Amino acid sequence: MTYTTILTETRGRVGIVQLNRPQAMNAFNLVMLGEVFDALEAFDKDEAIGAIIVTGNEKAFAAGADIKEMAEASYVQMVVEERVAVWDRIRKIRKPVIAAVSGWALGGGCEFALSCDMVIASESAKFGQPEITIGVIPGAGGTQRLARLVGKHLAMEMVINNRTLTAQEAQQFGLANRIVPVEGYLDAAVTFADEVASRAPMAVRMAKDAVNAAFETTLTEGLNVEKRDFYQLFATEDQKEGMTAFIEKRKPNWKGK
Ligand code: HXC
Repeated sequence: MTYTTILTETRGRVGIVQLNRPQAMNAFNLVMLGEVFDALEAFDKDEAIGAIIVTGNEKAFAAGADIKEMAEASYVQMVVEERVAVWDRIRKIRKPVIAAVSGWALGGGCEFALSCDMVIASESAKFGQPEITIGVIPGAGGTQRLARLVGKHLAMEMVINNRTLTAQEAQQFGLANRIVPVEGYLDAAVTFADEVASRAPMAVRMAKDAVNAAFETTLTEGLNVEKRDFYQLFATEDQKEGMTAFIEKRKPNWKGK
């Protein structure tokens, strides 16, 4: 597959999608959005891949949706071109997606990171929802995911008053899993992702499914999802292998079956 706005590579069982519009601070235009989701879906289908990283460059993860592409759009164009709906494609990815964020993660860039399963932030990472400064509001889940993650009052301040979070604050409020030095931030994210990718693949899938249910259902429904997923894992060879390996005091050899 040839892409024009992203770069892709694999390192062991980790697939990497790198946003590559540095001249525009990696702003998401429609082409890049399509390519990112195509690449994520391709890695999701690839059995050799266990975890996926999305990253930008040291200066910018992504500065949001491409304002120049959107500035003259009409209401009808926004709806017909599915500029908002297309972002839903990330919710269908079943493998863990890790955002490796350095520099700016603004607007849609912050929303993209919020849509990932985990976030590794470099010391220079800055997260914000500045849409209010250009006369709009977040449109790719910012108001909803941010409020669930950091709470109502801070989400209000970020969305209404353009408060940005440093990497330290992002970690403090649960938006970033860990902070790493800017230099080598991607390598650090790969090390992290590699560990994720080494886990039993079916159990990882079920784990992601069950944790996500916590944000979309009542407690009772979520507990039922967890119970169903837990029982289903007893139909896998990896459950037998994992428990046998524990008893035999050896490392498990996962098959993903
Ligand atoms: C288009 C962008 C852009 C963007 C930066 N650029 N962000 N182009 N869309 N979102 C371009 C600039 O126009 C400039 O192009 C080049 O990238 C470098 O940016 P500078 O502003 O010169 O860099 P700097 O001074 O370092 O400031 C970096 C920045 C700033 C803080 C990230 O660029 C900025 O505030 N960007 C906009 C952030 C934003 O408002 N995002 C929300 C977008 S709306 P030239 O050609 O001049 O060199 C959104 C809604 C999502 O995301 C909804 C989804 C459905």
